[in-house]
Amino acid sequence: MNFDSIPREELPGILCRMPKAELHIHIEGSLEPELIFELATRNRLRLPYPTMEELRAAYAFTDLQSFLDIYYAGAGVLQTEDDFFAMAWAYLKRAKADNVVHAEIFFDPQTHTARGIPFATVINGLDRAIRRGREELGLSASLILCFLRHLSEKDAFAVLEDALPFRDRFIGVGLDSGERGNPPEKFARVFARCRQLGLRLVAHAGEEGSAEYISHALDLLQAERIDHGVHCLDDPQLVARLVQQQVPLTVCPLSNVKLCVFPSLSAHNIAKLLAAGIVATINSDDPAYFGGYLNENYTATFAALPELGVKEAYQLARNSFRASFADENTKEGWIRELDEFFAHRHAQPSTVSAH
Ligand code: ADE
Ligand code: ZN
Repeated sequence: MNFDSIPREELPGILCRMPKAELHIHIEGSLEPELIFELATRNRLRLPYPTMEELRAAYAFTDLQSFLDIYYAGAGVLQTEDDFFAMAWAYLKRAKADNVVHAEIFFDPQTHTARGIPFATVINGLDRAIRRGREELGLSASLILCFLRHLSEKDAFAVLEDALPFRDRFIGVGLDSGERGNPPEKFARVFARCRQLGLRLVAHAGEEGSAEYISHALDLLQAERIDHGVHCLDDPQLVARLVQQQVPLTVCPLSNVKLCVFPSLSAHNIAKLLAAGIVATINSDDPAYFGGYLNENYTATFAALPELGVKEAYQLARNSFRASFADENTKEGWIRELDEFFAHRHAQPSTVSAH
């Protein structure tokens, strides 16, 4: 494809309109302040912030933990199956507006089961939204159950046990929460069991943690995809391995800036990751907290990094499909749709989707 013939001014419109997949979105991180207040009222809960503005003002994070404290507190308003449905349905509609055709969505059941919410309540609400999204929006989506790494191996085995009666409702498992001091090896046996069960495996690694956590997620957890992984560039041998084995990274630029992993978007290493031959993708992580959904992540990153042009836009969207856990035929279909978009539709007027 001749990307050079497409003027750079068309980039924002192309980024917004091109079909793409989102592979790193925590559904609890899509809970907007409006919905937090609505659910708190409905469930007769008292929030530590009297107004939405005061809640939003608290979204000034200094690191991952300072964010997680507020994020877990926010998730406390989710009580009923309808609450989980409302959260996921709002995300799916928002993703559709960003021309997301496929989403692989993380959920953190331990955040809810620890508060006495049954696993069934969580997954039934999320699953109902996903089925409705498929029917009404034509958007494909699946769930990935994340273990909270600050909790114990025993807790992870317990939530896996709770989840097994619903095995057909989620495609894989992941590992999230505070990375430092909670290395991948803590969950090696849980991941081995999940692998036996035929679940797909991903893990957050190298967000705040070192490149060694990425290697360990690959070696000790057999992770098929790494969430974040931006610290891989500290280890040239690891970079060579990621390229050779085509291990995808689900990178989240706005998140990385909000959590001070990079001082600014212009200091982000996503262009270097792509140039090194890594299967990098762009994702939103926790869009309600980090100031943007998927298209804002794309447009802000491209605006900050002049090395990123039309070719990289195509590459990132293509990587998002290649890195997904959909079957090969489906992936090929999406990539054909993407090729079609770039071949014929890029010249349409730009419509940068409003937030
Ligand atoms: N849970 C939600 N967002 C997360 C992130 N960026 N890193 C680790 N755990 C998370
Ligand atoms: Zn994440």
